[in-house]
Amino acid sequence: MRTVDLIHRKRDGEELAPEEIASLIEGYLRDEIPDYQISAFLMAVFFSGMTDREVSALTDVMVRSGGTVDLSDIPGVKVDKHSTGGVGDKTSLISAPLAASAGVVVPMISGRGLGHTGGTLDKLESIPGFRTNLSIEEFRNMLKRHKLAFIGQTAEIAPADGKLYSLRDATATVESIPLIASSIMSKKLAVNLDAIVLDVKVGTGAFMKRQVEARRLAQMMVGIGRRLDKRVQALITDMNQPLGYAIGNALEVMEVSQTLQNAGPTDLTRISLELAARMIYLGKIVPTLDDARELAQSKLLDGSGYQKFKEVIQAQGGNPQVLDRFELLPNATGVREIASPRAGYISQIEAGLIGLASSLIGAGRDTKEDTIDPAVGVILEVKVGQKVDTGGVLCRLYYTKEDRVEEAAQMVEDAFRISTQAPEERELILEVVG
Ligand code: URA
Repeated sequence: MRTVDLIHRKRDGEELAPEEIASLIEGYLRDEIPDYQISAFLMAVFFSGMTDREVSALTDVMVRSGGTVDLSDIPGVKVDKHSTGGVGDKTSLISAPLAASAGVVVPMISGRGLGHTGGTLDKLESIPGFRTNLSIEEFRNMLKRHKLAFIGQTAEIAPADGKLYSLRDATATVESIPLIASSIMSKKLAVNLDAIVLDVKVGTGAFMKRQVEARRLAQMMVGIGRRLDKRVQALITDMNQPLGYAIGNALEVMEVSQTLQNAGPTDLTRISLELAARMIYLGKIVPTLDDARELAQSKLLDGSGYQKFKEVIQAQGGNPQVLDRFELLPNATGVREIASPRAGYISQIEAGLIGLASSLIGAGRDTKEDTIDPAVGVILEVKVGQKVDTGGVLCRLYYTKEDRVEEAAQMVEDAFRISTQAPEERELILEVVG
């Protein structure tokens, strides 16, 4: 079969057979098919989509491109949690310790931030000494001893995804439902998990802008998991404003600490507790979801989640004192206040723009090779629905270098919409799939 014919058929909306998809991806990995043909194939998928059979075949070939991490000798039910990416989304650092302290084994395979979205690994690496490049053996030992470990995608875990993701990033094909679904699920299925809880973000700060697209993505990922006998549930949650108040790596770790001590923002606490409850429920620690919610709440209130996070920071080489003494985290050297041009109600805070602005001053990266500045970011002073006076502070920009601050400040200012009427309250958790 000729590669160009497969691209042609996909471009025209035809369904490819599993072996045809496998031959494309395997040929690409062996460097027999060039970047430009796979780029064209990705763009064809972007416009024509994929059937469930195709997306399962694509996921399968990506899983098979590496090894599988066998956790079967580790006692307990293994549950991972994954977000499709958002702004200020630090829920993994809260829900994972809560679930682990309730008895779930949580092998967290996390990603890095890209574009305007943040990544769990970058947040963790803002903690001095924290190592995310564990060997598989270290990862397994951590899980045995602490029930929780954070690791990045290694060369062993779905290497095809790493290669395809870079190409997608350079060819404007990231925001494709089947490509996102197979990318996320291939990394999860390379580890023999029992269950997965997904947080599919929707809104201006998410890859999926509309709820119908988010629902399709959630259904696709739940379907891929189910076909392989995994218990999978997906929450569809609002990403029209940043989650919590902090955006930027070390700033987010500070907010995680406050939230695990039950002094965090309401929206962040609510989503993190619900995700932890779903992990506990799918982890079969208790018989009902209501019991799981109660257990997650009690692990927050009695400080077990907070202690678990400290224990894991220490075990992965980090300094756990950072959770009590924020001056031990990287700190910015400059602060710029953004004031409200008029009085009124905050009707919108465009999460995408806030994410881009904090990326611009160094909190994120434009390409996978860029390094990030862990100290910088944005702290919101208001959230949607709140009243603000003329000159009242909307947010603060924390920076270490002056050069992009002006541009970022303008972007952040543009992110706020102020109206005379209070906006309608928006649901935070919009839907559950699976
Ligand atoms: N996260 C991933 O791991 N892959 C995607 O394609 C998008 C978000």
